[in-house]
Amino acid sequence: MQHKITSFEQYTETYKRSIEQPEQFWMEIADSFEWRQTWDKVLDWNFKEPNVKWFLNGKLNITENCIDRHLESNGDKAAIIWESNDANEPNRTLTYNELHAEVCRFSNVLQNNGIEKGDRVCLYMPMIPELAIAVLACARVGAIHSVVFAGFSSQSLSDRINDSECKVLVTADGLYRGNKTVGLKEICDEALQSAPSIHKVIVYKRTGQDINMQLGRDVWWHSEMTKAAKEFEAVEMDSEDPLFILYTSGSTGKPKGVVHSCAGYMVYTYYTFLNVFQYEADDVFWCTADIGWITGHSYIVYGPLLNGATTVMFEGIPTYPDAGRFGATSDKLQVTKFYTAPTAIRSLMASGLDFVTPYKLDSLKVIGSVGEPINEEAWFWYHDHIGKEKCPVVDTWWQTETGGILISPIAFVTPTKPTFATLPLPGVQPVLVDAQGVELKENNVEGLLCMKFPWPGIIRTTYGDHERCRQAYFGTFDNLYFTGDGCRRDEDGYYRIIGRVDDVMNVSGHRLGTAEVENAINEHPFVIESAVVGYPHEIKGQGIYAFVIVDKQSIENGLVDTDPMQAEGAGVDNSLHLLNIAAFENEVRNIVSKIISPIAKPDKIQIVSGLPKTRSGKIMRRILRKIAERDVSNLGDITTLLDPGVVDEIKKGAGL
Ligand code: PRX
Repeated sequence: MQHKITSFEQYTETYKRSIEQPEQFWMEIADSFEWRQTWDKVLDWNFKEPNVKWFLNGKLNITENCIDRHLESNGDKAAIIWESNDANEPNRTLTYNELHAEVCRFSNVLQNNGIEKGDRVCLYMPMIPELAIAVLACARVGAIHSVVFAGFSSQSLSDRINDSECKVLVTADGLYRGNKTVGLKEICDEALQSAPSIHKVIVYKRTGQDINMQLGRDVWWHSEMTKAAKEFEAVEMDSEDPLFILYTSGSTGKPKGVVHSCAGYMVYTYYTFLNVFQYEADDVFWCTADIGWITGHSYIVYGPLLNGATTVMFEGIPTYPDAGRFGATSDKLQVTKFYTAPTAIRSLMASGLDFVTPYKLDSLKVIGSVGEPINEEAWFWYHDHIGKEKCPVVDTWWQTETGGILISPIAFVTPTKPTFATLPLPGVQPVLVDAQGVELKENNVEGLLCMKFPWPGIIRTTYGDHERCRQAYFGTFDNLYFTGDGCRRDEDGYYRIIGRVDDVMNVSGHRLGTAEVENAINEHPFVIESAVVGYPHEIKGQGIYAFVIVDKQSIENGLVDTDPMQAEGAGVDNSLHLLNIAAFENEVRNIVSKIISPIAKPDKIQIVSGLPKTRSGKIMRRILRKIAERDVSNLGDITTLLDPGVVDEIKKGAGL
């Protein structure tokens, strides 16, 4: 823990050094790891192609740093504590020794099923220790893991499998989420009808439900594991070999596969976990994210294990069996550091203090927030009622593409300020620019957040399409990584993230592209065109508002299943049959669920006869956003629109 910053003076000094001598700075941190062979150059980079390489020609395996190196001194320490969806089911604990044995066994299983270095393995699993084991086993054999959040639909799953041509799929029969059971294997079976690259499916038995096992293709986790040895010599990887792919939404097209590489990601998640959360050896660290998202990759699995920490994995949801689940679990496991999302905080807030006051929460020392801007009310509620006014709130700003936290308070070190992610971590060089890319150097400004220098955890490419990576992140402004976020820097130089400035929505902390949702909506046979925007939502942060042009005649003819119970509150277009509209909206939501995920369902659907477009045919989302926000005081100049009249009609339709 010699790299731990423990005072603000030390932060200032370390930050300065990290900017003046970045290579020296990161090299000293990298030195503390186990390498098969050390690097011969620390950094090679340009943002033009882009080409970023850290610790060139270094050889290592990240799992030796996550597991093996802790065995001698800490083999019996808990690596993972698992909390079931069912609050009455006993916890499962895996010590570092046990984790080592399981990871080695599953590495053998992967190898026995044809997986070699560089192959892609898709993981579509519940939040059970086997997911972490599978992630680490992929890394140990040198395969590239692509975890797909188990809330995604079969189509999203097959799209992701196909994009990176995964050879093996690891899944479970089903999963528990609150009082629901989801048939994961069934979803996989559907996905596999159009995912020809998969030749083996390894199935963990979690729910025991009836499933179909295809002979020759599908094998059981438990029977493969009993056949496998509990030693596996980790495969030597180059620093820049890909470690994983994680799909995330952008402003255009289908989700892209963000690629992270072995050494830089390792150094960066280790360092940020250690510092932001001020890791101590007896910590019980609980990040409530799902490993299907980057937060789970970096701060449930890699960051904590690289530090030799005890990390909690939670299978369930914050409101099951009731909204007291976080408090109850935190007390039971004596959690010391807790990391969650604003949307979860707001949903607890809405449930009321009756679900908080029964719990002591006195083991907590640091509480963190991630994934979306945290509003002031939620910040104070979190600070006062969960942190009991004694825990620093670390509002951590980062992205799938950044690999780890970039801007955040360091607990106990950086004075916090509600709603501010505060200051850049060492090695991070943020700049704010205007729309032309001109740097705004002074304080008290608002601009577009960019980074002017690489940190070890930066995205390396988007899988199979490097040009897309260049365009999306490095093509907007010369020599800058553009985050897509708007940001304010105040008089103290503190950063406050405002939110996305591109066509990306953030719904309950889940990133969704407007184009992705529109494409799904357009699959409904009555839909001619649609435009989707985010709007402020009390719990979810952003809700989804869809403006849809439909073939009215089809709806009027009642070609949809009508359900009288759905009629209430149906659309506002009186020229259409209300019952039919309600049924239509239902169908649209179902289609989106099926194509993407239930998380992408539009909250509001408004049928319109046209969309505000420029003469070149571009949809003016700015106007739709204003209408969705119900703030039409300043719509800007609309005279240049193809059909300015449509704006009034949409306003009227929205009841404005
Ligand atoms: O808009 C920012 C928001 O989430 C986006 C990144 O989403 P994703 O790649 O899914 O990663 C989420 C978890 C790291 C960012 O562009 N965001 C993330 N953290 C914060 C945030 N917005 C405000 N404050 C944060 N702390």
